[in-house]
Amino acid sequence: MIQLKRPHEIEGIKRSGKILAECLLKLEDIIKEGVSTWDIDRFCYLYIKEHKAIPSCLGYCGYPNSACVSVNEVVIHGIPSKKKILKEGDIVSVDLCVTLDGFVSDSTRTYEIGKVSDDVHKLNVVTRECLNVGIEAAGKKGARILDIGTAVFKKAFLENGYGVVRDYTGHGVGFDLHEEPEVPNFNDRLLPNPRIKPGMVIAIEPMINMGSWQVDTLKDGWTVVTKDGKPACHWEHTVAITDNGIEILTQL
Ligand code: MF3
Ligand code: CO
Repeated sequence: MIQLKRPHEIEGIKRSGKILAECLLKLEDIIKEGVSTWDIDRFCYLYIKEHKAIPSCLGYCGYPNSACVSVNEVVIHGIPSKKKILKEGDIVSVDLCVTLDGFVSDSTRTYEIGKVSDDVHKLNVVTRECLNVGIEAAGKKGARILDIGTAVFKKAFLENGYGVVRDYTGHGVGFDLHEEPEVPNFNDRLLPNPRIKPGMVIAIEPMINMGSWQVDTLKDGWTVVTKDGKPACHWEHTVAITDNGIEILTQL
């Protein structure tokens, strides 16, 4: 069941999303060569706690940290580690969920360390554009959920030849971290395709691979990597559909 949110509930998710957005913005100054993925997680944990909020990923399904920190060929769910030190040319995705007064928001950005190759930079730019076209598609009058995936897939695969991850999707969010509906980054006629209505709050999150769409999970049970070892990017926003159109809740 899709749980619609009332305006004051959307405001609550927006307050949670503001803390999240500020944290991801502050990370721009923290993330650089020599910093470990554990340092990034630690910063997020402290920042969220300082703002009287809860890092929702910590303990979620047994996940051991506050942030998912995914470097290069790691697509999602990278577990922070003191041994994983960032170096020039790397990319790192930081996926964060924040709960404030019971309201959950979810957002991800991919950061570049120093100068990255032109290929990798383009992948990151296009993935961010995929998020934007997905949001735009969701905001159109009468749109359905799979219109998001249609737009993302067109930009990622049809226009740029990138692999679109199929094993993980966006999702409803707000009262819980993962709610209905599923929000795929591709369109498949057999998938559920509810109409998008005012009161819906969803996390749109393209996960885009430079090479093949296929992924593997490492033995730790979490880390999702590209099968071909090529890099992947991930951008995510929590958005609300209101009577006045679409609103991004994890943007300052
Ligand atoms: N933020 C992730 C998402 O977008 C959820 C991470 S699950 C966790 O759905 F267990 F790793 F936290
Ligand atoms: Co999400």
